[in-house]
Amino acid sequence: MSDKSRIDRVWRHARLATLDPHRAGLGIIEDGAIAARDGRIVFVGRDQDLPGGLDVDVALDCAGRLITPGLVDCHTHLVFGGNRANEFEMRLNGASYREIAEAGGGILSSVRATRAASQADLVAGALPRLDALIAEGVTTLEIKSGYGLDHDTEARMLRAARELARMRAVTIRTSFLGAHALPPEAYSKDEYVDLICRDTLPKLAREGLLDAVDAFCETIAFSPQQCSVVFEAAARLRLPVKLHADQLTNSGGAKLAADCAALSADHLEFADEAGAAAMGRSGTVAVLLPGAYYFLRETQAPPIAHFRRHGVPMAVATDCNPGSSPLTSLLLAANMAATLFRMTIDECLAGITREAARALGLIGEVGTLESGKWCDLAIWEAESPAELVYRMGFNPLHARIRRGQ
Ligand code: NIG
Ligand code: FE
Repeated sequence: MSDKSRIDRVWRHARLATLDPHRAGLGIIEDGAIAARDGRIVFVGRDQDLPGGLDVDVALDCAGRLITPGLVDCHTHLVFGGNRANEFEMRLNGASYREIAEAGGGILSSVRATRAASQADLVAGALPRLDALIAEGVTTLEIKSGYGLDHDTEARMLRAARELARMRAVTIRTSFLGAHALPPEAYSKDEYVDLICRDTLPKLAREGLLDAVDAFCETIAFSPQQCSVVFEAAARLRLPVKLHADQLTNSGGAKLAADCAALSADHLEFADEAGAAAMGRSGTVAVLLPGAYYFLRETQAPPIAHFRRHGVPMAVATDCNPGSSPLTSLLLAANMAATLFRMTIDECLAGITREAARALGLIGEVGTLESGKWCDLAIWEAESPAELVYRMGFNPLHARIRRGQ
């Protein structure tokens, strides 16, 4: 029995951006307090409403600083071998992302480097990227496989992701992205999809390495039909799905993700209104990745107006990966979502907290400051929420709390 008057920690005199959906806007509470017991939030409200007679272990005065939920980066490819600085240079000299991919570079060059890397190499490479995210207040993130494209390398990537979660105070959700590209040894896309559905995916699921299944639906990757075969295999294993959808062309990815009740459809630059409407009906989150849009110098922004009109929840993530978004700042992703996609401050902040948690299926656990959720907090050397989005390349984090610590 836990003693209801015992409090491990209380943060007092803060401006709280609770992101509580029952409150307007960002759910701001002026001169607020937040209390934690056993890692969970047990009180959020005005400081003056803190119940009396509490037995508090540690009380901290936040001196008016802003507190938000710990940030959530819901789309990363954080674990990979090597880097693709040479391809960046090729693109500066005029080659396109598609041309590099079709010539055997792109994702496949990261596959070669990742296959050559040990688990220890993968962890050592990813750790500085993880630490950069953590230093900015990230408490939960997603990491995809997809640079192995064979069972053993995909397993090594996913084990590296699980190891990172043991090394740092952070929650990591893994996604299997076997359908990312056609591996060089595969005979055809259909045959490869059949192999991952029959063999790789069930094995990795049995090994306890998977929290979700992703696929890359694109002319240079897999067709909607092939992605739906992967989703059926995921459903047999009771794993939630998500999709890289409509990034470079309108391939019907948004609609497919919605039809399969996917947690999220990601990128979406070329999604159309019918796709947005379907996502609104299914509750599929639109995960917007302005880092990839910027880095590939895309010109068609995702249809934010359609997402608003159809009530599609919008998240923002780094898409941290070696080819299209070597970005390890979620705050910069939020700034880009505002400047490049014209998202509002409130949408950007909800996008890196509440809606990102929704995109990971974790909305019951993190993403807002509400009683019962994990006490994951970012305490900022800032007064207004807009300050977090408006700066570029500056880190105003004062302290980061995970599970009350
Ligand atoms: O999310 N779109 C597909 N996958 C990654 C890019 C992968 C790469 O180029 O290495 C993305 O942008
Ligand atoms: Fe991605």
